[in-house]
Amino acid sequence: SFSSYASSHDFLVCLSAAIPEQLLFTRSSPSFASVLASSVRNPRFLTPTTVTPLCIVTPTNASHVQAAVVCGRRHGVRLRVRSGGHDYEGLSYRSARAEQPFALVDLAGLRSVRVSRRAATAWVDSGATLGELYYAIAKASGRLAFPAGLCPTVGVGGHLSGGGFGMLLRKYGLATDHVVDAVLVDAEGRLLDRNAMGRDVFWAIRGGGVGGSFGVVLSWRVKLVAVPPTVTAFTVAKSVEDGVVDILTKWQEVAPALPEDLLVRVIAEGQVASFQSLYLGTCDALLPVMRRHFPELGVNRGHCKEMTWLQSVSYIYMGGGASVEDILNRTAVEDAVFSKATSDYVRESIPRDVWAEIFTSWLAKPNAGLMILDPYGGKMAGVPDSETPFPHRRGVLYNIQYMNFWRAAGEGAAQTAWVRDLYAFMEPHVSKHPREAYANYRDLDLGENVVGGGGIMSYEASRVWGEKYYKGNFRRLAMGKAKIDPDNYFRNEQSIPPLGDQL
Ligand code: FDA
Repeated sequence: SFSSYASSHDFLVCLSAAIPEQLLFTRSSPSFASVLASSVRNPRFLTPTTVTPLCIVTPTNASHVQAAVVCGRRHGVRLRVRSGGHDYEGLSYRSARAEQPFALVDLAGLRSVRVSRRAATAWVDSGATLGELYYAIAKASGRLAFPAGLCPTVGVGGHLSGGGFGMLLRKYGLATDHVVDAVLVDAEGRLLDRNAMGRDVFWAIRGGGVGGSFGVVLSWRVKLVAVPPTVTAFTVAKSVEDGVVDILTKWQEVAPALPEDLLVRVIAEGQVASFQSLYLGTCDALLPVMRRHFPELGVNRGHCKEMTWLQSVSYIYMGGGASVEDILNRTAVEDAVFSKATSDYVRESIPRDVWAEIFTSWLAKPNAGLMILDPYGGKMAGVPDSETPFPHRRGVLYNIQYMNFWRAAGEGAAQTAWVRDLYAFMEPHVSKHPREAYANYRDLDLGENVVGGGGIMSYEASRVWGEKYYKGNFRRLAMGKAKIDPDNYFRNEQSIPPLGDQL
């Protein structure tokens, strides 16, 4: 029986024997609320009715995490793990169901980054942010980088567990494609490296682990990638009056086929689309490429902003006024906004008249949000779908993210409905059988695990959301889960269910 009062008391006694008092926060501790809130990005999941943890552990070394697992197993308390807290559904620190009490292991204190310039690798702890990783790499060498997300406060732990992509995607693929070793605490409390965890689990944690399904990943060894000393960022905005519908229709074919040193993504909001771009080279080299492949965008020298790769990180996410040190700030990117998001993959260009309708109808509505289009192709097209759990590779033109925001608790019904209604409208125009989605843009509307009699999680029911994120790889993930955590200790509303030999 999980988490009766008695067992949670015994759990705390067990923890106290292994973990210094100042690293444990119970609900009665004065700093509980501030530690809980410390990395929450979406205040939707920090309300009086949110199901919050019984206690929070903030480990400073591996043995603390091992103790949390051992005590949790012994006393029937489940754990949730938080690295950067950016989960779109807050599943790293809250439960969507009241009947699932849990303790939180917050890894923010485990965040060292050790770069080996000679080997072009780094060991990075899960609690580090992408900004901390990028900064440490660029300080070690101006010619090295790491291909991961745009937002510098995203945590390494969740990001690498679910894939991870940003402006270097077309040249270098996903963040998780560059993982060469990892340290995992499994459901027995053992500390396992790549060899000890075995092939199936090492495969699974590189993209299939964003539910924390396989254990707690403490650190990752990643290969770094080469960047030139000068890169060029540019953004071109086109409105409906400028002919954005035609330009965007063409973009769908052009962007995934551009040379892989160039990524041109789109943020469509209101009656404008911004073509936000990064080229791994100088403006002189970029201009002829744009003239040849995408003259409609009209890129000229005035659009070019030459800088180092590290400067491009702060420039692209935070604007020209930001400094590279700003990417180290774990909290102050923006003040709290409520948000709802979901995602799609596009494998065949969406017809011009549909784009026209998106601009005249959906993006023109009073409570409209935005659409972010990230082009694939390049390196992504050369990696087989089964190489890692992330299956959206060859044949994908681009990823769509639908997002909407609001500012006050209790609002958001119209903004959430906009995302859901647009998602319904898009169905005929996006990937099918299954309709694919990106695991790191978690959306519980896609489905939740169903736990039946005897606490058994249904594999069949989980396929509804699981195959959207993982396609045919979902089955292999569930079989790997049965090997490493057959009792399904690590679980949440969208964790991988164990699939044993019986099926
Ligand atoms: P968080 O700590 O919330 O964890 C997410 C999930 O992973 C949870 O289920 C958690 O239990 C599990 N988990 C976390 N750490 C773990 C560990 N050490 N071991 C095992 N399980 C663990 N994505 C992208 O690809 N490109 C981008 O540019 C962006 N940009 C972006 C901006 C903003 C503002 C947000 C909110 C999100 C993004 N993302 C993104 C999505 C992001 O990649 C995704 O939310 C990651 O899972 C976040 O990782 P965190 O560690 O911050 O999340």
